[in-house]
Amino acid sequence: MKAGSYNLELKEKVGLAAANLVQNGMTVGIGTGSTVEFFIRELGRRVKGEDLNIKGITTSHQSKILCYHLGIPVLDVGMTDQVDLAVDGADEIDHSLNAIKGGGAAHTIEKIVAAMAQQFILIGDESKLVDHLGLKFPIPIEVIPEAMSLVLRRTKAIGADPRIRMAVKKDGPVISDNGNFIIDLYFKQPQTLPQINNLLLSIPGVIETGLFIGMASKAFIAGAESIKILTTNKEGGNQAWEM
Ligand code: 5RP
Repeated sequence: MKAGSYNLELKEKVGLAAANLVQNGMTVGIGTGSTVEFFIRELGRRVKGEDLNIKGITTSHQSKILCYHLGIPVLDVGMTDQVDLAVDGADEIDHSLNAIKGGGAAHTIEKIVAAMAQQFILIGDESKLVDHLGLKFPIPIEVIPEAMSLVLRRTKAIGADPRIRMAVKKDGPVISDNGNFIIDLYFKQPQTLPQINNLLLSIPGVIETGLFIGMASKAFIAGAESIKILTTNKEGGNQAWEM
């Protein structure tokens, strides 16, 4: 599923840039994945080296364990609904800052934390920026195991090629942090995002989709020369500048 160590340098650059947005006293939503790992490591360095006083809200066991090792205090997700800033990676980001997430099977909690945040910022290397979501990368859905066959039948009926995500160092399927299956939906044609999202959520047993529609206010995209900051404005347009 993941690009592995592809573009690690760019991921590091953008993770560090995002960590510099964090200010003393903030409650920070902390995403999941290899790009966010750099963000967390820099936060850990700032907590120790600059006495940065923050509370983290993590979106996965992966992020929570890393925060634990780095001494970043973490609050229980279910006990909080105020997040100042949430930062997360993505598998694909379009020019309106809609995204596909869930390459790490963490998109359900990631979406909950993003929804709590005053500001939700996506970070990624330039390979993540696409014209249409879902053509290179599948749309993942988190599914209660008992709904597997129903979901496979229903998603085929709407034109998807559904594949149960299989684990690499475990026999059988990937089991999410919430104890569920992940089904990756491959589409040949671009989909109308809100429509496909609602259709998927209407299938009993689908807990959440990896489509993040209209949630991010900015995306930091790292290229070889610079980091582009893409932003949406209230009129629905978007702007870009470089740092
Ligand atoms: C995890 C995610 C990740 O943020 C997404 O897969 C990007 O990962 P990476 O930064 O490793 O490329 O959505 O569920």
